[in-house]
Amino acid sequence: MANEQAHVFFKSGDPAVAPILMLHGTGGDEEDLSKIASYLSPSSPQFGIRGRLIENGQTRYFNHTEDGGFDLESLDSETDWLLEAIDTYTEQYHLNQEKMIVVGYSNGANVAAYAWLAKHPRFKKAVLFHPMVLTQVTTLPDLSNVSLWASHGAQDPIVSKTNFDELMQTLDTAHADISIFEHEQSHNINEPELVSAKAWVTAHLN
Ligand code: MLT
Repeated sequence: MANEQAHVFFKSGDPAVAPILMLHGTGGDEEDLSKIASYLSPSSPQFGIRGRLIENGQTRYFNHTEDGGFDLESLDSETDWLLEAIDTYTEQYHLNQEKMIVVGYSNGANVAAYAWLAKHPRFKKAVLFHPMVLTQVTTLPDLSNVSLWASHGAQDPIVSKTNFDELMQTLDTAHADISIFEHEQSHNINEPELVSAKAWVTAHLN
């Protein structure tokens, strides 16, 4: 079974507070975002799931094609794998997936946003650090019960402003509730960004 391969990190917290699911950036692991999650919501239970693919020695949630584009078949099947793993581990650790806040960076933020647009995941809230559009979605889902915070850096060589705006526009058209944070730096997470994300998380813990 696919889930047997999952590398999972779990840190217990107050079971009454929304749990945080951490989805790392390219080359990261299941524990990478733990310090950030602790800052965003100190008492939340935390769990992280490592992307099970390795490309050029780096962990990822889906592959690229040989010409450098996104491999949409890999994206589709790995998103299914990840959502199954989320179901398995939220059950195992008794975590409320409806209340859960996904905290994703880059590759991890991308797979979370894609899941909303294409897969009807059970999670409804996310902090997406530096996400981007992976593919056009022809039929938009109704995301009126979804709330998200997302960030972008003006000097980001990976995510252009146009790309980020397109993703936000798509999510907005699908009726998601969106908060945006923009800084003048690159693909990095900076301190004012974390302060903004924390304020959003604090307001969405219930
Ligand atoms: C991706 O591959 O998901 C994006 O290029 C972001 C990243 O480098 O992880």
